[in-house]
Order: sequence, then structure tokens, then C-alpha cells
Amino acid sequence: MGSVHILEHPLLQHKLAILRDENTGVRDFREVVSEIATLMCYEATRDLPLQEVEIKTPVATDRFQVLAGKKLAIVPILRAGLGMVDGILTLIPSAKVGHIGLYRDPETLEPVEYYCKLPNDIAERDIIVLDPMLATGGSASAAIRFLKNYGCKNIKLMNIIAAPNGIERIQKDHPDVEVYCAAVDKCLNDHGYIVPGLGDAGDRIFGTK
Ligand code: PRP
Ligand code: URA
Repeated sequence: MGSVHILEHPLLQHKLAILRDENTGVRDFREVVSEIATLMCYEATRDLPLQEVEIKTPVATDRFQVLAGKKLAIVPILRAGLGMVDGILTLIPSAKVGHIGLYRDPETLEPVEYYCKLPNDIAERDIIVLDPMLATGGSASAAIRFLKNYGCKNIKLMNIIAAPNGIERIQKDHPDVEVYCAAVDKCLNDHGYIVPGLGDAGDRIFGTK
């Protein structure tokens, strides 16, 4: 079963509390989502392979570790996942970015696909799927299925807040995928919103409500 990494760093928890506050405005919300993505990226890339190279410092020549240059792609689930992209690119500026557009039907809570554009060599890349919210898990599970149909093998999922239902769904549908989140909240309400959560992430990032 895929592991779930709950990142409890104090900086992350503090920033998450800012997102949860209903009085946090669009500008701060957007900025903090991006900062959280950067901090989470640091943890989610712990297993990146290194290789030794020779480097001459001003004092001596020696062998040092640098990234082995493994190909990465990040794939935000539109819309809300877009808010996490810049935060990740701060640390991995050369990552390719694919987009998968899904929205959740408000009646059925089932994901509906409306857009997909991925790098040509996506199947050769290690992938981090981005979405601030993992509620029923339907959207993330569909996005991961989609990527697997393109031949992708090494996929991680990064969410800011997850619900227990969403985690169960990913573990059932995609036991090979590791989930990274900053909190696992209590439950979902009757509208499929995470409780206590932070509300509608897309609306709060883009100011559409
Ligand atoms: C939200 C969120 C996830 C999805 C999570 O997107 O960003 O993609 O809901 O719910 P699930 O785990 O039950 O599928 P939404 O459908 O509101 O679209 P948006 O990002 O365009 O606002
Ligand atoms: N999507 C959101 O944006 N928020 C939730 O709480 C659940 C799904």
C-alpha cells in the first residue's frame, strides 16, 4: 500500500492555519499556497538520486554530490493545483509542467475531464501531481489513472489537506502512489467539502466567490 507522508513541520502548520482562516484574502491565500508547495516539495523530493562529480573549490579539488538529472514533471489538476506550480518551480525550475483539467460535478461529486496537455516524454518522467484538496479522491484518482494510461510509472501525489476518504481511495486505486499532505482532516460534509478544511481552494486562489 502506498505510504502517506503527513508533513508536520511547524512552518507548514502555521501557514496552513492562515489558509484555513476565512478572513484570509485572495492575495495572501495565493501567496501562502505557493509557499506551502515549496516547503512540501523539499520533503517530496528527498529521494531524488544524486551522482558524484569532481569540483574544484578555490582551495582544493574533490568529489561532491549533485542531482543525477532525473527527469521530473509536475502535473497540476486544474484549477486549484495551478496555485502550487510556482512554489514547486522555485526549487525545481527545470521541471516540465503538464496540465489536467478536471472539475467535480457538484451533484454526483464525480470528476469531469475538460483539458489535458502533457509533455511528449511524460512516460519517462517522475511525476508529482498537485492539488491542494484531496476530498473523495475522485479527481486525483482519475488524474493518476490518466497518467498511467500514458505509461507513467513513478507518480507522487501532493495535497495540502486530505480527507480520510480521499486517502483510502488513492490507496485502493493506486497502491503504488505515495501521498504527501500537510494535514489529514476529520471528514467530508454533505457537499463533499473537507471539514474543517479551508473551503473551496479554487475559489479562494482565484477569487471567484
Ligand atoms: C476541487 C479540488 C480537487 C477536487 C477535490 O476542485 O481542487 O480537484 O475538488 O475533490 P475530490 O477529491 O472529491 O475529487 P474543483 O472540482 O472544485 O475544481 P476547481 O479546482 O476548478 O475549483
Ligand atoms: N474541493 C475543495 O476545494 N475543497 C474541499 O473541501 C473539497 C473539494
